[in-house]
Amino acid sequence: MLETERLILRRWRFGDREAWAAMNADPQVMRHYERPLTAAESNAGIDRLERHIDDHGFGEYAVERRADGVFLGMVGLATLDAPIPLAPGVEVGWRLARHAWGQGYATEAARAAMDDGFARIGLDRIVTFTARPNLPSQAVMARLGMTRRPDLDFDHPALPPGHVLRPHLVWSQDRP
Ligand SMILES: CC(C)(COP(=O)(O)OP(=O)(O)OC[C@H]1O[C@@H](n2cnc3c(N)ncnc32)[C@H](O)[C@@H]1OP(=O)(O)O)[C@@H](O)C(=O)NCCC(=O)NCCS
Repeated sequence: MLETERLILRRWRFGDREAWAAMNADPQVMRHYERPLTAAESNAGIDRLERHIDDHGFGEYAVERRADGVFLGMVGLATLDAPIPLAPGVEVGWRLARHAWGQGYATEAARAAMDDGFARIGLDRIVTFTARPNLPSQAVMARLGMTRRPDLDFDHPALPPGHVLRPHLVWSQDRP
């Protein structure tokens, strides 16, 4: 579990499932993904996220607001094993429910996850990437002070040529 001034990043609970599925079913939240997720896909996702934490000792955590315990979304680190040019490696990622946007939560949570990645886990480098049109996500990367890496940009192999979400932009940060 990680704590910041306003947030707790923790393992997933059964009680997160409804809010998690609602977030993943929101077309606005998912506008830079292929499509929103069904409840079954969201539930399977939690199982995968929990397995990752069991296997690696870190992962993408549930984020809750300390003041009232409200579920805000998901932020954390994930190993890259998808068939993309950056793998193997560790990425930092974020997805928040719409009511949690515009308050600095993604940046605050990601900073805590990255600090943990460098200090406790001993990572040498953390990367992150997003589809070219995802400007809010790129703004988080900039706020985190990560380095833009055009040399590592890639086309996502899961998407067909010409798809607007296929070109991906990469940022990285080395251990301080
Ligand atoms: C990407 C995403 C997490 C970014 O959320 P966000 O709210 O824009 O980013 P932050 O949480 O860092 O908040 C920053 C904003 O909060 C504002 N803010 C308000 N109070 C703040 C505070 N106390 N501290 C810091 N920032 C604060 C900042 O000024 C900034 O506003 P701006 O965007 O108008 O400049 C969100 O858009 C999202 O969940 N998108 C859908 C999922 C997604 O695309 N994930 C990424 C896939 S690669």
